[in-house]
Parts: sequence; C-alpha cells; structure tokens
Amino acid sequence: MAVETRPEVAEPAPIAPLFAAHIARFNAGVQSGDFRDMISHFTDDATATFVSLPFGPFRGRAEIEQAYRDHPPDDTIDVLSTTEPDERTIVARFAWHRTRQTGTIRLGHRGEDLTELTVEFDPGVDDVDAARSASSSPPASALDPYALRRDFPILDQEINGHPLVYLDSASTSQKPRVVLEAMDAYYREYNANVHRGIYTIGEKATAEYERARAKLARFINAPDAHEVVFTRNATEAINLVAYSWGRRNINRGDAIVLTEMEHHANLVPWQLLVQERDGDLEFIPITDDGVLRLEVFEVLLKLRPKLVAFTHVSNTLGTINPVREMVEMAHAVGALVLVDGAQAVPHVAVDVQELGADFYAFSGHKMLGPMGSGALWARRELLEAMPPFLSGGEMIREVHLRRSDFNDIPWKFEAGTPAVGDAIGLGIAAEYLGAIGMDAVREHERDLVAYALDVLPREVPDIELYGPMSANLRGGVVPFNLPGIHPHDVAQVLDRYGIAVRAGHHCTMPLHERLDLAATARASFQVYSTREDVDALAAGLIEVQKLFGA
Ligand SMILES: Cc1ncc(COP(=O)(O)O)c(C=O)c1O
Repeated sequence: MAVETRPEVAEPAPIAPLFAAHIARFNAGVQSGDFRDMISHFTDDATATFVSLPFGPFRGRAEIEQAYRDHPPDDTIDVLSTTEPDERTIVARFAWHRTRQTGTIRLGHRGEDLTELTVEFDPGVDDVDAARSASSSPPASALDPYALRRDFPILDQEINGHPLVYLDSASTSQKPRVVLEAMDAYYREYNANVHRGIYTIGEKATAEYERARAKLARFINAPDAHEVVFTRNATEAINLVAYSWGRRNINRGDAIVLTEMEHHANLVPWQLLVQERDGDLEFIPITDDGVLRLEVFEVLLKLRPKLVAFTHVSNTLGTINPVREMVEMAHAVGALVLVDGAQAVPHVAVDVQELGADFYAFSGHKMLGPMGSGALWARRELLEAMPPFLSGGEMIREVHLRRSDFNDIPWKFEAGTPAVGDAIGLGIAAEYLGAIGMDAVREHERDLVAYALDVLPREVPDIELYGPMSANLRGGVVPFNLPGIHPHDVAQVLDRYGIAVRAGHHCTMPLHERLDLAATARASFQVYSTREDVDALAAGLIEVQKLFGA
C-alpha cells in the first residue's frame, strides 16, 4: 500500500520543533499510537491513509481529523528509527503491533505545516522485532544480559534437570554478588548496632548505614538524603503514610482517589484508613487494555480529594502511568500525591524531583537488593509535620515517664534496631543499577517485552495476552493465559522445565475482577533476563498445551 501526495513545497524550512518533539516523545516511550498532534499540523492538501483504519486515503486536514475521530485507533505504534534526510523531511519507520506490519512514514512540511504524508509498507516484513533489529541505530548504552548474568550466582543452576529460567522478577529480583558480599562483609566484619556504639565497628556500621541512605537518595534524585526513610518494603512505606499522614489529615467525607489497577499494598491501607476516619475512596477506571482513563480522573478531581495514590507501573499489566501529568492534575486541586514505585524504581529511571509527587514508596528486594528492604521518600516538610508511625527506641530525642520528644527525620520513622545489613546491601544494589544505567535497563526490558509480545502469540496457539500491546507503554511484565488451563497448572508444569513464572491474582484481585479474569500467569524481567528466556517460555507453554490436550 502506498499513498502519496507531493504538493509543491514553496519554502524550505527547518523541521518544526513541535514535530521533532513529538517523535522524541514516541522514542522515549511515553506516547504511542496517537497522531493527533501531527494531524493538527497538516495542511488542507495533505492526504493520509492509516493502516489501522479500514479505508482511505483521507484528503485534507478536516477529513483526516474526522477519520481519526470516527475510528479511534485500536492499534499501537512503535517508532523503530527516525532519520532526517533533509531539513524539511523526517522519515520514521513504524511498527503497528496488532496488525504486525511495519511501514515508513515520510513527513515533510512547508513552514510550520505538514504538506506531505507518505505511508510505505514493506510487504515482506511482518516481524516487528526483526524490523527493530534491522533498524538503524542500536540503543546508546546497550546492556549485555549475558555478561550481567555472571554476577548472579543463583542463575547458574539446574532445576528439575533444566537450567533455571527465572521469570518472576516482578515478585522479587535476584541479587548480584556485590550485594551478597556487602551484606556478608557487614556480618563478618562490623556487625554492630547503629547510632549508639561509641566504638570502631559501631561507628563503621552507622557510617555505612547512612552512606546507603545517601546512595538510595542519589539513585532516585531526592534533594536531601534525610527525606529517605528505610522501611521493610513498599507495603510498609505506604502504611507509614496511611497511618501517620492519613490519621492526621483524613476526616469525615474526605476523598482519596486510587485506581482500579492498584496492588493490594496500595489499596488495603487506604480502605482501613477511610473506614476509621469515615472518608471515601474513589477509583480511576481503566480501559480494557489496562490504561488509566484520565478523563474520568479529571471528573473525580472535582471531588477535591485530599490524596491521590497510584502505581507508577502496574505489577500485573505492566502499564506505565503518566505520573507527571497526573501529579499536575492532582496538585491543581490541592491534593497530595503518593506514588507506589515498587515496579518502577527497579526498571526505569526515577527522578522524584522531576515527577513532582509528594510521597514515593518502593521495595529494595525488587531492585536487586535484599529481602526485607525498601524505602519511602517524602518531601521534608511533610515528614517533619507527620507524627511517628511506630514508636520506641531510636526514634526519640528525650523520653520522660509521661511524654517524649521525637528524633529528627528520617530517624523519627525508624523505630527500633534497623535492618542494617539489608540497608547496606540496598545501597550497593542502587549503585549496581546506577552503573548499568537505568536508561539501558529500560531499553533492555522494552526490547524483551516487544520480543515476548511478538513471539508468544506467534509460537503459542491461542495464548491470551493482557495489558497495553505496545512495549513503549509497559514495564517488563507479560501477563497471559492459556484458554482452558488454570494458570496454577501452567506454572506447575513450567516448573518441571525449570521455568519460574508467577500464577494467581498477583495481589490485584480488583483488577482481575475488572478484567473478568479469575487469575493470570505472569512472566517478568530484570537485567539478567534474555530473549532465550522468552523462547524457553514459549517452548514450555507448548509442552503445557500438549499435556492438557489443548
Ligand atoms: C506495584 C506494587 N506495589 C506494592 C508491592 C508490595 O511490595 P512489597 O511486597 O515489597 O511490600 C508490590 C509487590 O509486588 C507491587 O508490585
């Protein structure tokens, strides 16, 4: 298929900055499948055919806009590469996921207006992933999972006579040798309590514990390490806010806005809070593809909620939510924002200052750190105004029989002896990921998800996949079902081949209810995951189908 109009181009002009920004947003993975901005720059003599629409070409901007409105695209689009052959033209190679076609769009413009849209399809190329590998520029700082795997001793073993294929990193990640060694060194060489021992190893333990906090703060670009509170996990971080900030600030009739895709960790604490304080919960619904309906969020904000709390990346569908945009919307009505970053910090670059939220909770054990480690970041003035969550030793400055003065932040929120070795291990994990580079981590996982979204439906008959169908819109999780086979059975049979996937409701029962699913199986990735892992999963699933006669 080829549709072309070539009206005369009167005046050469540099590429419109807005259009270049649009492509950059595509490439950064924050936007997909929406040509509306582009269309608004078409002149009346432009012609367009969209592969996701059943007919065309459409002529003129009004007609193109109407066609787009009448047939909201049910497809998602990935930019594979872009080149600028001259100052007035940009050529982008795209992949349409549902139809698995690739094509080239050549866009040129006169002044600020687009005058030419050429859509050329490569009939021979139906493999999006092959097209991606063939496309021009590889990611700037590619990550080598095969080299990194050598850092993870646990991966070098056989399970049930097969090499371990660990595809459950969203549940917890494996730990690199540097993390294990740092914890081992703490216990072997300077195990002592912190903030109290006036002796050499006690002082070293305190210094390393606080150094770990500084590393973690740097990793999420917190402006001040004192704004980072160590917790046992994301769940405890969210509970801290619900108990401390929530009990002080949520009163009768106050609304808290959540979403339909929340992990129970970002749902149950708010349920308990509003039951106790007589508040209300409201929920941003999702589309069938698992994307938040921001137009409904806008309406919910008219209730003037006190807090909006949502996940950065869905642990079940992988959806990456537009945090900045949602924070701006919430702040505009005076609501505070808590972001559950349990599935984001291990997989994408997180800059809490840029995101602009008020509270950001995450787990350490999902980001290559030790079990039982996690953190809450919050703005200093909020932490300072909040009453303690747990109380006892460490969190006080002075104690009298009938009252106490509390310590400064963050120690006010770290009652009792902390998990020193775990915190030190977590600091090393943040350093390890930082050295790889979070952009490279994201690109690696995006590539694996794109590969899985392409290979699984091709290789495994009837497999059902859930969530947004563009790797640009999702983190490294791929939920699926084999019709007629319970996901627990799928996981059990895969285990015979050494393949570890999670099966069940993934602590998102309301989300499963919304999607009318009893349960799903889920494969999830980390820096050590490879395309061969995905191939092994596909082969394993075929064995599952054979066993169940599907
Ligand atoms: C999105 C999300 N939030 C919160 C949690 C809870 O994390 P943790 O069990 O470490 O507290 C998880 C764990 O899977 C998660 O995926």
